[in-house]
Amino acid sequence: MLDSRLPLALDGGGLVWPEKGTIAVFGPSADLDLEGFPKDRIQIIHDFYPAFAVWSARDVSVAVVSEGRYAAAVVCLPRAKMEARAMIAEACAFSDGPVVIDGQKTDGIEGIFKAMKARVSVHGPVTKAHGKLFWIDAPAADNFADWAAGPELTEGGFWTAPGVFSADGVDIASALLADALPEKLGKHVCDLGAGWGFLSAHVLTRAGVEAVHLVEAGHVALECARRNVTDPRAQFHWADGTDWTPEHRVDTIVMTPPFHVGRASEPQIGQAFVASAARLLTPQGHLWMVANRHLPYEAELKTRFISVEEIGGDARFKLFHASRPLRNRR
Ligand SMILES: C[S@@+](CC[C@H](N)C(=O)[O-])C[C@H]1O[C@@H](n2cnc3c(N)ncnc32)[C@H](O)[C@@H]1O
Repeated sequence: MLDSRLPLALDGGGLVWPEKGTIAVFGPSADLDLEGFPKDRIQIIHDFYPAFAVWSARDVSVAVVSEGRYAAAVVCLPRAKMEARAMIAEACAFSDGPVVIDGQKTDGIEGIFKAMKARVSVHGPVTKAHGKLFWIDAPAADNFADWAAGPELTEGGFWTAPGVFSADGVDIASALLADALPEKLGKHVCDLGAGWGFLSAHVLTRAGVEAVHLVEAGHVALECARRNVTDPRAQFHWADGTDWTPEHRVDTIVMTPPFHVGRASEPQIGQAFVASAARLLTPQGHLWMVANRHLPYEAELKTRFISVEEIGGDARFKLFHASRPLRNRR
């Protein structure tokens, strides 16, 4: 973890924070210990709403994207390689001082270390706790400019970006769900964990739909969704799907719930989405959902809905239709 490696770099390892100016910290986990940072001079940059909200509640400056120049930058390596490269390019483009890169082996820090060492001189590394931390001096503007990446059009004609779910095109499971949706979906629909908007685009092909709420925690994913779903009935919410609350309950929820927190497969997040769906639906509302077959959602569905049916799927994915939410209190 960054908090175990950073002290070694600062205490005799050769890393020194600039005396003045703000230090940008890209993508830190919400429980990062800020020991070692000049806390009044850091800005956390986070695109994922739940982490952004936790950081906002701590006594530090938080932003979704870089805001102006920084005296130094720290990149906490994300799992997706292209997203990691894009984050490093952004940190290098906005920092006038050292750029520190920290990450776990399982998140590809060794490959990034080698790739950066081939281009610029690198200090450190500090190797500890299954990861590495290293840094470079003030980067030249174009050192890593070719790693920068933003939303791009995929072959299927959708905008996606590195690091967003199913960035290469339509997710197979979501396509199964889209094909299984009924003709009538009601007036108000919510796409919980909307990603770059595939399911919402599909929902908007249905007659009678007056509003679709796209609730998504990833800011970049939601920006992609804004480009993909230009229908005026779409409403975009950068929010945590497990506690987002609309003005009125909705008639239908469609979702391919998230099943990972970091690298680990975590059924709890999908189960929290099921509970949220029950909370958000009208008493006659319907949930349509797809999930990996091995994930245990049945018990949660049965706790939250009177009627639960598996309506098909394939060897890898199962489709559910649940109705009549039980815990319909806010
Ligand atoms: C499996 S993907 C499905 C995306 C999209 N519905 C599709 O079918 O392509 C789950 C999505 O939920 C988002 N997500 C994860 N945790 C979330 C949370 N707490 N609140 C809202 N969205 C979340 C992820 O960023 C991801 O885009």
